[in-house]
Amino acid sequence: MKVLAIMGSPRRNGTGAEVVRKIEQRLKEKGEVEIDMLHLADADLKPCRGCFSCIKLGEDRCPYKDERIAIEKRIEAADGIILVSPGYVQNVSGLMKNFMDRMCYTNHRLRFFDKKMMIVANGGAGLDKTLDALRIAIGGPEVVSELAYIQLPWPIRPKAIEKRERALARAVDRFHDAMVRKDMRPSFGNYMRFRFFKSASEAAKEYLPADHAYYRDLDGYYYDVKVGMGTRMAAAISMAIAVPLMKDMAPWLGEE
Ligand SMILES: Cc1cc2nc3c(=O)[nH]c(=O)nc-3n(C[C@H](O)[C@H](O)[C@H](O)COP(=O)(O)O)c2cc1C
Repeated sequence: MKVLAIMGSPRRNGTGAEVVRKIEQRLKEKGEVEIDMLHLADADLKPCRGCFSCIKLGEDRCPYKDERIAIEKRIEAADGIILVSPGYVQNVSGLMKNFMDRMCYTNHRLRFFDKKMMIVANGGAGLDKTLDALRIAIGGPEVVSELAYIQLPWPIRPKAIEKRERALARAVDRFHDAMVRKDMRPSFGNYMRFRFFKSASEAAKEYLPADHAYYRDLDGYYYDVKVGMGTRMAAAISMAIAVPLMKDMAPWLGEE
């Protein structure tokens, strides 16, 4: 099994790296695993300059010729992804945020569906918010496991350490089991996104041509899979409620 850990800390040997070593150890107890570590601090990933070309015209129109494509290939080669960020002002680190910004087109045109994702926030207060941000960092992989790993600038009681390490073990087990199961059933969230973008990209083709080109030939879902009747009905109801509510902001919605 191949796992790519994407590290958002500027500190290569900080707490985030220590957590990944523990994750690796537990995964290795369960079977063969190869961990590829990508320190964003070492990557040539320029700060997004906000031209919007990747979303609007396609990621091949990004003005930067840096490591973004190589990073995509590393994600593609993995069975599982671990995103690790220290909590910075109750959010992700700047390095992780730039990675998210540079990958933002994947939240329009989703990919990496066969990947399972574990998200890890380390630090103290506000890690739930850091996890909220990490959950949507890349569009496509299923987030199967989440871990808030407490590391404070002072010693904590042994009881708290035990609790933290138990939570780590449980989170790794969930991640491992999901990678082994390889379940490709679409989550409701991804299915809703598909329905929304399929409808919106047709109606808004002049504004978002890359989305239109991507969704035009997709039918049913992003890949060949049977979507359950319950999911389809729940999505149809949600769309029927959401579309009129968005009419003022997106007058073209529902007009295709
Ligand atoms: C710029 C900055 C902002 C931080 N903000 C928070 C915060 O909001 N809450 C918190 O509990 N810790 C905060 N911390 C502490 C880090 O989250 C904590 O030390 C983390 O474990 C460092 O991880 P690393 O060793 O992997 O870099 C902050 C640290 C830095 C440098």
